[in-house]
Amino acid sequence: MRVLVINGPNLNMLGIREPGVYGRRTYEELTAFIESAAARIGVSAEIFQSNHEGAIVDKIQSALGRADAIVINPAAYTHTSVAILDALKAVALPSAEVHLSDVRERESFRQLSYAGMACARSFIGLGFDGYARAIEYLKESIENHNT
Ligand code: DQA
Repeated sequence: MRVLVINGPNLNMLGIREPGVYGRRTYEELTAFIESAAARIGVSAEIFQSNHEGAIVDKIQSALGRADAIVINPAAYTHTSVAILDALKAVALPSAEVHLSDVRERESFRQLSYAGMACARSFIGLGFDGYARAIEYLKESIENHNT
């Protein structure tokens, strides 16, 4: 099983950006965490990060025929991007949303998730672990549907 993991804007600044919200671990540490979680779970993961909405839309479209599932943390685009929602709906791959911080406890403008409308589940406020939980969930749900 192949999982495409997409991270949106400013997540490359992890470790530097708002450590009180996002912690002190870096983006490189996040990608290493995702790679080792994927290996433990038994899936292959491609990890992509972009600060550009169109690049994220292009990447989602490119998953068609190349990935079995998508894990996405669209970052700020979560709350604004109908284009990312539409791309997820267009490819119609099993998808899960991740947020490092607990957006439910944050500002009102973070309460709406467009991408989440195309995702089977959201893993919110679990830090890095949210990515492992999302990969596990997608693997189990694909296996269960196939049996
Ligand atoms: C985030 C939450 C978003 O509201 C924010 O814009 C981010 C990161 C998270 O992982 O907690 O950039 O998606």
